[in-house]
Amino acid sequence: MIPQEIIDQILDTLDIVDVVSEYIQLKKAGRNFKASCPFHSEKTASFVVSPEKQIYHCFGCSAGGNALGFIMNYENITFPEAVEMAARKVGVELPANKRVSKQEQTLTERLYLVNKHAAAFYHNYLKSEKGKKGLTYLKKRGFTDEILKEFSVGYAPDEWEAFKKYCVEKKIPAELLKKAGLTISSEKGRGDYDRFRNRIMFPIFNERGNVVGFGGRVLDDSLPKYINSPETAIYTKSNVLYGLNFCKRGIREKGYVIISEGYMDVAIPFQFGVNNIVAASGTALTSRQAAMLKKYTDTAVMVFDADKAGEAASLRGLDVLIENGMKVRIVTLSEGDDPDSFIRKNGKEKFFDFLNNAKDLFDYKLDLLIKKLGADDIGGISDEMLPTITRAQNAVVQSKYIKILAERLGVHEASLRQEMGKVKKDYSYHSEEDESGTDKRSVNYQKSEVHLLGLAITDRRAFERIRTELGFDKFRDKNVNFVLRLVEDFYAGGHKDISPGKMLSRLEGNEAAKNAVLQAVVNADITKDVGKALKDCISCVRKENREEEIKVLTQRLKKAQTEKNDKEMTEILLKMNRIHKEKVV
Ligand code: GTP
Ligand code: MN
Repeated sequence: MIPQEIIDQILDTLDIVDVVSEYIQLKKAGRNFKASCPFHSEKTASFVVSPEKQIYHCFGCSAGGNALGFIMNYENITFPEAVEMAARKVGVELPANKRVSKQEQTLTERLYLVNKHAAAFYHNYLKSEKGKKGLTYLKKRGFTDEILKEFSVGYAPDEWEAFKKYCVEKKIPAELLKKAGLTISSEKGRGDYDRFRNRIMFPIFNERGNVVGFGGRVLDDSLPKYINSPETAIYTKSNVLYGLNFCKRGIREKGYVIISEGYMDVAIPFQFGVNNIVAASGTALTSRQAAMLKKYTDTAVMVFDADKAGEAASLRGLDVLIENGMKVRIVTLSEGDDPDSFIRKNGKEKFFDFLNNAKDLFDYKLDLLIKKLGADDIGGISDEMLPTITRAQNAVVQSKYIKILAERLGVHEASLRQEMGKVKKDYSYHSEEDESGTDKRSVNYQKSEVHLLGLAITDRRAFERIRTELGFDKFRDKNVNFVLRLVEDFYAGGHKDISPGKMLSRLEGNEAAKNAVLQAVVNADITKDVGKALKDCISCVRKENREEEIKVLTQRLKKAQTEKNDKEMTEILLKMNRIHKEKVV
């Protein structure tokens, strides 16, 4: 770890405006600087750099961070690498234990290397006498030798320690295998064993063609069908699209990308000459993936299996493409087919012909909803359609969709626009996995917590007021809560004011908290009347807490009633009374 003081020292010397200017051209706009975002392609300039706050933020793709974050993102390097680079630039000496960061720096390289070894090992095994079972399976599924080689498809031996032993021979440290997710430690203390056994191995490549992980498929119908590498220092599921390294040129040439669902649905079509296809590997698309695609094209054709086709929920995931300014079209395969089987049956030409029938996402979704809910369910339909429309970046496109929707539903455009104003702006800092865990609190409430966080970070007096009038225990969002405690420590440590840029450097590796800070600071920045905002938000958080408490008490009261527990009932009623009185004050 690099000491925080050093990072602070670097951030004190390094001006974010200088840093960003080295890479892209900035234009002064009031207190801030603007540019078109280097992380997603756009026509308008949604990318803002604040010299005051020492952060950057893109309203389009919600990329954001401090100066070090920018370097990391732009150069595509790790945090320690960015620190090292910046330190050199500003002439800050890294301490003697900077060798730690050197180690960290090469960890990335070493992980790439070990994954490359693994891919070669599994591929060679597939091609050996012992790997016959795997090869037979793949041949049966139509793979040619060329494609097996190009995609480095392999087969993991049906043994517990085959790869591990191979690495001992090659003098690759066991620790590294574990860090790469290729081995797992036995819980019974019997040492490590291979994660992938008796599976067809698909190396997962990053955009630049380094192997970052694996997807391993069983050879029969047993479950789980696929095992994937865990997230590692070089593999973040949401940052990878399977096949992109092979298809980036094809995507540019063809002018669009085909998005399918799985490994097979990339490899087999590719073998047939479809060189513009990728897969998100079984998860919803993330905005990072959308931004990656946007570098190559602004048009996506989504190929759905028949079973996914009827779901409005699976369409919701596509809003992230719309948000990144992409045009999205959808086509559905018939029952039992996926791109792999379709193309083996019908060939490449028919496949491309079939894609020509793809419908615009908007029309597709609208038709689907009308079929499902009935044309009379105006509320239900507009509830699903408006969030999608809201996400379209282009105002002309939005208008067009509003117009069509109004016509189809037989309502006034004005009322749709009014409803659209109410559509919840996504708090993108909630990570996708997080979503299910968060309880259903009102949008205003969430907004208030984030808004208060922003004020607390940017205004010391606001921070004190929040502490005395509300207290930090009242904050339910775990990220907001976490950051508030950090702000507290920061002030307690004698700092006079906080630079949001420095705040971010204390949250390295915690993406959700970083996003909360960015969102909060951006909100605070556009607050006109801080006093009023404080009052409103504090009372909103109070109210929500009160209601929550009352709800819990009511449940307890019911229970006490059925149990005829008079003492408990009196206690609860007293408590409720107190809460109601507080409300009046
Ligand atoms: P085949 O059945 O061999 O044709 O593979 P497929 O890729 O068509 O599989 P399917 O359509 O069932 O799933 C699509 C993608 O979802 C796969 O390529 C995987 O990335 C992912 N997936 C499917 N099943 C599993 C699973 O059991 N575990 C995990 N982690 N991912 C899965
Ligand atoms: Mn399949």
